[in-house]
Amino acid sequence: MGVFDQVPLLPPDSIFKLNTSYQADMRKNKVDLGVGVYKNEELLTTILSSVEKAEKHLLKEEKAKTYLPIEGDPFFLKAAGQLVFGADFFSAHQERLAAMQAVGGTGALRLAGAFLKQEMPSKIYVSDPTWPNHQGIFMSCGLKVYSYPYYDTSHHCIEFEKLIQFLSLIEKKSILVLHACCHNPTGIDLTPFQSKILLKMCRDKKLIPLFDCAYLGLGKSIEKDRAMIREFAEEGIEMLVAFSCSKNFGLYAERVGALWVFVENYSIKKSVMSQLRKIARTSYSNPPKHGAQIVAYILSSGLKKEWELELFSMRKRMHQMRHSLCAYGKKHAYLKEGLGMFGLSGLNPSQVKQLQEEYAIYMTENGRMNFCGLNAGNIEYVAQSLLDVICEK
Ligand SMILES: Cc1ncc(COP(=O)(O)O)c(C=O)c1O
Repeated sequence: MGVFDQVPLLPPDSIFKLNTSYQADMRKNKVDLGVGVYKNEELLTTILSSVEKAEKHLLKEEKAKTYLPIEGDPFFLKAAGQLVFGADFFSAHQERLAAMQAVGGTGALRLAGAFLKQEMPSKIYVSDPTWPNHQGIFMSCGLKVYSYPYYDTSHHCIEFEKLIQFLSLIEKKSILVLHACCHNPTGIDLTPFQSKILLKMCRDKKLIPLFDCAYLGLGKSIEKDRAMIREFAEEGIEMLVAFSCSKNFGLYAERVGALWVFVENYSIKKSVMSQLRKIARTSYSNPPKHGAQIVAYILSSGLKKEWELELFSMRKRMHQMRHSLCAYGKKHAYLKEGLGMFGLSGLNPSQVKQLQEEYAIYMTENGRMNFCGLNAGNIEYVAQSLLDVICEK
């Protein structure tokens, strides 16, 4: 008997498994609407030109590979803080913002989860539906994870009244995971009016928002996409923000992200920082440097303009693909209301399976589509196949 004989076998992660199946599929007409990465019209995920230039600069200038501080690169934290909160708010409130560089957006959420588990006895609520890893991350941190109503699948809109009613009944000081923009998987964000009502609810019930900001700049604009975070922060709501540079900088593999905890004053910030540093020190010691320096350099140099243009063109392509797909049939007209990479096709798991087996079109089991998998060459095929599968059932 070996020591590890009793280790139970887990199934592979469903999104990564989907990608493996897609890669192994030999059919010429295959279409990947699965994994959440950006692809250009040629369906390639290339390195942004602003990123390439920043890397060339770093290669010339970098003198050492010594450790970063436990909390990360200060230049990155400042540049990312200005991006996420706006330069004016950030400079006025940095004394209240505990800031940690993180290992991607996932690492930021994990840091947040570990911190909340340690410091708060609260329950954590995620939207129904949400990015499935939310449950996984927070459960691994030992938190009790619950769902709040968010999306009405039959009417393809936010079930806002139900959401507010639900929140009015949960315990005070509960943690509320909110998608800052480009909700994954629905693509449907709260309207500014709804967000104001939610803010009031958070203030009255002392709910603690944890903003997951993984698609900043890929919805409407940097400013509009960070509006909800800004609005809550300006009202002085104590909250957390987990930020990812994976999608908007195309730095998936470099693992760049950050976590901010917005607190009441500098003395609390110091205590919070000390705890976050301890969590980081005992998990990975200090974060990786390369990707953070790329982002810091882009945001603080002439490359920022170039990056903003690249961001604009990514956003525009996703918008165009979303709208072109809608043009193929009334059934999908509601998708126009969405923003960012994703939307729900409305297919059930067996229809998703059928689409994969019979039409070589891949999407996640919940029917989520990544619009970046579409281009002029396959969009008609996808639209027709979707209609075929829907009409058959
Ligand atoms: C909603 C959401 N949050 C967080 C992340 C994590 O991003 P990262 O790849 O930076 O860990 C993702 C990635 O798909 C996401 O969709």
